[in-house]
Amino acid sequence: MTVKRSASSQSLVSQSSIPQLSSRQKKSFPSSAIVLSGRATLPEKQKIDETLRPSCLADYFGQKGLKNILSIAIGAAKARRDSLDHLLLYGPPGLGKTTISLIIATEMGVNCTMTTAPALERPRDITGLLVNLKQGDILFVDEIHRLNRLTEELLYPAMEDYRLDITLGKGQAARTRTISLSKFTLIGATTKIGSLTSPLRDRFGLIQRLQFYEIDELMLIVLRTAKILNTEITKDGAAEIAHRSRGTPRIANRLLRRVRDYIQVKKLDCISQKLAAEALDIYQVDIQGLDWMDRLILETMINQFQGGPIGLEAIAAATGEDAKTIEEVYEPYLLQIGYLCRTPRGRVVTNQAYQHLKQITQGQ
Ligand SMILES: Nc1ncnc2c1ncn2[C@@H]1O[C@H](COP(=O)(O)OP(=O)(O)OP(=O)(O)O)[C@@H](O)[C@H]1O
Ligand SMILES: [Mg+2]
Repeated sequence: MTVKRSASSQSLVSQSSIPQLSSRQKKSFPSSAIVLSGRATLPEKQKIDETLRPSCLADYFGQKGLKNILSIAIGAAKARRDSLDHLLLYGPPGLGKTTISLIIATEMGVNCTMTTAPALERPRDITGLLVNLKQGDILFVDEIHRLNRLTEELLYPAMEDYRLDITLGKGQAARTRTISLSKFTLIGATTKIGSLTSPLRDRFGLIQRLQFYEIDELMLIVLRTAKILNTEITKDGAAEIAHRSRGTPRIANRLLRRVRDYIQVKKLDCISQKLAAEALDIYQVDIQGLDWMDRLILETMINQFQGGPIGLEAIAAATGEDAKTIEEVYEPYLLQIGYLCRTPRGRVVTNQAYQHLKQITQGQ
């Protein structure tokens, strides 16, 4: 399977899956989609993130609650020879929303067409994708909270009644045409469920939040990735990386690659706890997984605003970071570990954060 990255939209188009469509259908395919067969194996020359993606439920560690619910839903849908209910996955970046969606396609034995909401600009982008779906196929829409109004309104009847209502012509000559669709499954992924409109949210049969991972789960992920990367690592080494990974598999994999670089340069062949700690100190990732940006946010709040309460915009202006990035990338973990709390008057730094920063400063 070859994968082409379109220059204009930074999106992927899998060419091997498309030939099964007629040439007319192919033309209606927007360049914003990647189609993956649920049975396909991963191509050799793909991005490292994708090589590390587990492709079956057994390799998808953690998220026990989610996996239980999905196993029931998949088992029931398969027994009924029916499609899976529409599924909405939400939670901070890097927790495995895309990965679990691909695994669902594999488990169901169906194709998965992947796109992202900002790429669905015109009504014909979404209609082109929908009419090409077959019975049971999955349409994965990333960042679904960013759908525009027109696209979203086309999705309502598509999700509920598997039909598209298209208006042809304008003014008095306008006519509505209805197209029937195959019974597909929409999987929406978002980091901001609060930004989804309630009519869209209500049309999902399953709404699931992904949780931050426990240390032992992250350890399993690190050990598995090390095996794929042909890197030797001790259990303690994996635990050290897991502790500093902010409960997030993508970060765990990234830190492992940095530590691997470190031992390679040092001409050593196994990652021990000591070497992992040494390497991650160099990359300024501390024992709680905070990086310099997390610390800058906390320190700015303490030094310039007496620890809060302080509004998000003020934090963004003082740190020079985008407010959205702070809210979506940095804040969830700081809230999760109890270093920040949100009050009606703004964010406040907690005592735990003060103690952590003191400990870090003393250790230097
Ligand atoms: N449960 C898991 N077990 C093993 N590896 C995982 C798991 N979840 C995620 N990963 C790894 O973490 C990486 C990031 O996961 P993924 O891309 O699915 O996150 P995401 O929630 O879709 O993030 P984003 O919100 O940024 O799109 C994957 O490449 C995969 O290797
Ligand atoms: Mg994703």
